[in-house]
Amino acid sequence: MKTLRILALHGPNLNLLGTREPGHYGTTTLADINQKLIDMGDSLGLEITTFQSNHEGELVDRIQQAVSDHIDGIVINPAAYTHTSVALRDALLATSIPFIEVHLSNIHRREEFRHRSMLVDAATGVVAGFGATSYTLALTGLNDFLRTNQQ
Ligand code: DQA
Repeated sequence: MKTLRILALHGPNLNLLGTREPGHYGTTTLADINQKLIDMGDSLGLEITTFQSNHEGELVDRIQQAVSDHIDGIVINPAAYTHTSVALRDALLATSIPFIEVHLSNIHRREEFRHRSMLVDAATGVVAGFGATSYTLALTGLNDFLRTNQQ
């Protein structure tokens, strides 16, 4: 089985997972989520790189870098930038790398401003509302998509 490279990107305030608004985001830490993705990657033949930033430009830089890093697919929780960032949308469109948009909470059950995503119509898929499990569902879906749609 060919090893595929996956970038897991986490947007602002997700470094606080574990203690941040547990009613919305649960108590699993970002380190736990990343480790789970790496462990899943081991069994699925995926090399997982993780990155979190509170800064929009750093996330844009990392998406651009994904091309030279030969990343095959991206799992991204853009966090608050979901609802605002033309820059992240443009960066993802510029790479043409398939990506899955992930949210811990079901953004459609929350405040109206969270219902809009700047990225969603460019995404291969979206997973929201399953807490930390949203990430593992996204990785499963991305793996299946890439393995079905490559060569
Ligand atoms: C979030 C939802 C966003 O609306 C919010 O700004 C976040 C996290 C989620 O994972 O549920 O920071 O992306």
